[in-house]
Amino acid sequence: MLVTDHATDQDHVRPARPHQKLTDDGRRVREVLSYSRRGSRFTTRQAAAWEAHHERWVVPDEAVDDSGFSWDQAFGRQAPLVVEIGCGTGEATAALATARPDANVLALEVWLPGAAETMGRVAEAGLTNVRLCGVDAVWLLEHLVAPDTLEELWTFFPDPWHKAKHHKRRLVTPAFAAVAAERLRPGARWRLATDWAAYAEQMRDVLDAEPRLEGGVVERWAERPLTKFERKGLAVGRTITDLTYTRRA
Ligand SMILES: C[S@@+](CC[C@H](N)C(=O)[O-])C[C@H]1O[C@@H](n2cnc3c(N)ncnc32)[C@H](O)[C@@H]1O
Repeated sequence: MLVTDHATDQDHVRPARPHQKLTDDGRRVREVLSYSRRGSRFTTRQAAAWEAHHERWVVPDEAVDDSGFSWDQAFGRQAPLVVEIGCGTGEATAALATARPDANVLALEVWLPGAAETMGRVAEAGLTNVRLCGVDAVWLLEHLVAPDTLEELWTFFPDPWHKAKHHKRRLVTPAFAAVAAERLRPGARWRLATDWAAYAEQMRDVLDAEPRLEGGVVERWAERPLTKFERKGLAVGRTITDLTYTRRA
């Protein structure tokens, strides 16, 4: 049996990925996801970046179904794994991966045009330590990252799902926080930022209550670049909250 360093499941069969789960009579299971599928149309630039780089840098969704899948293999080297959830167009990814040549930076983005644009930035920056994957980060962290291994986790401006009926779709929930905290290695950090005050409060409540984590609201992380998304929030008068939590030993 092939059990890799980063795979967590002890046997060959992982539960189906989101969008692959079927009812007994073959219908798609309705799932609560932290994203909605946005348009998949590429701009000319995104199409060119996808064409040029996807074979080398994108981990195809089906690849993770392979029982022998490992992140070290996907990156072509053994190095500490840093995960960014929802990289958008990759502004933070490119800047932060440049500052971390020692790490394998896995950018998770279900919106393919964003992943394509991220690749364009990564290429422009001359980086080789970034890979992209479009599989749901919630599923992926639980099933493809082993407990106590993650070097760092970044979650910048996750979708706020501001209507009360959609709060259940927010990424930072007690259940997800438990999985994420368990994946971090002791002493490793989960860095978050949001421009949505009520979500910042939820993040604090949820992460304060997670026994494996300690931390809270912090000064803006100096290395985190100001993104277009963040500028838009600032332009309409929102306050940005940065949070950092550390996995307890
Ligand atoms: C509001 S955008 C922020 C993008 C970027 N971090 C920034 O600051 O510009 C959130 C992104 O997270 C992605 N996303 C949300 N849930 C996700 C999940 N479970 N797995 C992967 N990507 C996800 C969405 O597709 C969206 O592009």
